[in-house]
Parts: sequence; structure tokens; C-alpha cells
Amino acid sequence: MHEVVRPSALDRALRPLHHWVWRDPHRRARKLLRFAETEADGGRDLSRAAELTRDPLLRRLYLRHAEDELRHAALFRARGQELLRGLPNAGAGFEANWLAPGERGLDDLRVSDERDESLLAFLHLSEKAAAQRFALYRQVLGKDPVTRAVFDDVLQDEAFHMTYTQTQLARVAAGRPRARLWRARLGRLWKAYLRVAAAVASVFGTLLLRLQYFVILPPFALLARRASRREGIGFVKVQKPSPLRSQY
Ligand SMILES: [Fe+2]
Ligand SMILES: [Fe+2]
Repeated sequence: MHEVVRPSALDRALRPLHHWVWRDPHRRARKLLRFAETEADGGRDLSRAAELTRDPLLRRLYLRHAEDELRHAALFRARGQELLRGLPNAGAGFEANWLAPGERGLDDLRVSDERDESLLAFLHLSEKAAAQRFALYRQVLGKDPVTRAVFDDVLQDEAFHMTYTQTQLARVAAGRPRARLWRARLGRLWKAYLRVAAAVASVFGTLLLRLQYFVILPPFALLARRASRREGIGFVKVQKPSPLRSQY
């Protein structure tokens, strides 16, 4: 197939890792099901954006975009379920979502707080990133032509989303599309930083809890065991209370 979008330089450099992530059929199926969730989420956000915008052309485009994302969700879900049906049962495993996250859509952006320009700028960057990732995933899925065909199909739409958001941004941002894009880029960077910071904090939290459990708790457990040896075994005779002759 003619390449509509090329993977980013970073993803191309990490191609062996992506190969490894997509090689395992269980992980592949779980990732497709997760992608289906994020695509459906994106579709709902875009329907909301279509309700809120006052621009009739944008409303039509957002609605078409929302339909596309819901179709992608159905495609990914169907393929994920088909893959799982052909595999023996397996528990949840490592999905490497930080490396291969799929389409993030509007992420945790509040559609109702955004103006058309900022929403279009954010959407453009997000669609571009998704299209580049999907272009790489289709390249590393040479051994699974059915899943690869799903990405081929989805990629055509993502390329359209990437270009219409750019064209519409140039129309509504009144000569300042670059400034809007930079602001959106900084917003995405900040969110990426928060995601990394949360992941690092979770690793440190787990490490600290393990340290407390294996290093700090054992001495107290030993002291408690030694103290318990000094306790008598069985029933212990109660000491007679002293006769209360005075208050001293
Ligand atoms: Fe999509
Ligand atoms: Fe999209």
C-alpha cells in the first residue's frame, strides 16, 4: 500500500521494540481492545464538540470525525475479540502502553472549555501523532495481514483528520495558526510530563513500601518475638489488688 503518512523518526528508531510489543498475539489482542476504548472516547468527545461549536462547517466535520472514530473503535474491537477467540486463555500481561499508546484523541481535554482554534490545534497534533504511530504499527504487523489491513483502513481516516484540522485551523485562527499549534504543543508536553511523573512516583512509591516491609518491619517483628518469649504460657495468675487503705 502507498504510504499516506510516515512514522516519526523516534518511532522508526524504536522499531525493534515495537516489533517485540506487537509480536505476542495476546498482547496484540489486548492492545486492540484498549485502542477500541480510546477511539470510542474520542468519538464521544467529538460529538460533544459538534454540539458546542457555532461554526456550521466545523459541526459537519466534527460529526464525520466522530463517526470515523466510532467506526475505528468497532474495527479494533472486532479484530481484538477475533484474535482472543483463537487463543488459549491468558491473564492480564504487560501492554507497554507508554510505548505504543494508540490514538489518544482529546485525552483529558475538556471540550466545553476550549475554543474552536485551541481544539483544532490540539486535534491536529493528536491526529498527526496517531497517524504516524499507526503507520509504524502497520509496518511491524507483516506477519498478521488481517490486523495490518485494519490499520491500513484506519490510517486513511487518520490522514484525513490530520489534514482537515490543519486546514480548518488556518481558516479560524485568523493568521495565527502557528501560535495556536505551539500552545497546543506545550499543553501536550505538559501532559506527557505529568504522565511520566505519575509513572515515576508510582515506581518510587512501590519501592518505598517494599523497603518498609523488608527492611524496617523485620527488626520490630524480631523484638516482638523476643518480648513474647518472656511472657508466661497459658493462664497467668492475676496479681492480688493492694488493699486500699489510703489514696497514696
Ligand atoms: Fe481514530
Ligand atoms: Fe482520528
